[in-house]
Amino acid sequence: MTAIAAVDRRWGIGSAGGLLADLPGDRGYFRERTLGKTVVMGRKTLESLPGGRPLPARVNLVLSRNSSFRADCEVFLSAEDCLARLARLDPAEVYIAGGAEIYKLFLPYCDTCLITKIDAFLPADSFFADLDADGAFTCVWEGEPRSENGFTYRFTRYARAGAPLAGGGNG
Ligand SMILES: NC(=O)c1ccc[n+]([C@@H]2O[C@H](COP(=O)([O-])OP(=O)(O)OC[C@H]3O[C@@H](n4cnc5c(N)ncnc54)[C@H](OP(=O)(O)O)[C@@H]3O)[C@@H](O)[C@H]2O)c1
Repeated sequence: MTAIAAVDRRWGIGSAGGLLADLPGDRGYFRERTLGKTVVMGRKTLESLPGGRPLPARVNLVLSRNSSFRADCEVFLSAEDCLARLARLDPAEVYIAGGAEIYKLFLPYCDTCLITKIDAFLPADSFFADLDADGAFTCVWEGEPRSENGFTYRFTRYARAGAPLAGGGNG
């Protein structure tokens, strides 16, 4: 399983229910990585998407503890139920897409994290785990810096220590 997230220099991922920066290149990267695959997200992240709708051309799995919550995709009441569903899929085709609560729940099951690093300190209220301080992961690849909308950022890849470097490069 792969977690995919854009973080600032403090590993912030969001503020007031939205993203920290508008980065079309990062949106394209996310789309390219996840198209045709399975994305796992929390109810709040689903509701932050355009129209509050699941991502097109992907299998969307959403977590909510609210048994009345309905979405145009599969909804799971617990991480255990969602993991049971994921066990039937190829882990290489599963992307954990946030937000903070869902990254925290599923990071122990991820062997790869695709982290877009925004070179800025932004006001955030939700965070990804600091993988540089977490001995379980190592940064195995860093792309060249890009600039967009006044932000500089780069794509990076972290692998779980001891995990095979499936895909190599920026995969
Ligand atoms: N930078 C990035 O790459 C990125 C990516 C995604 C999201 N984000 C940002 O992250 C922020 C949202 O993160 P968040 O942590 O507030 O929300 P979230 O993780 O998207 O969703 C949290 C919700 O998931 C459900 N949930 C959590 N644990 C569960 C469990 N064990 N079983 C069943 N349901 C469970 C609950 O829904 P109910 O309340 O319905 O029970 C909970 O309120 C936003 O600012 C968003 O823009 C950033």
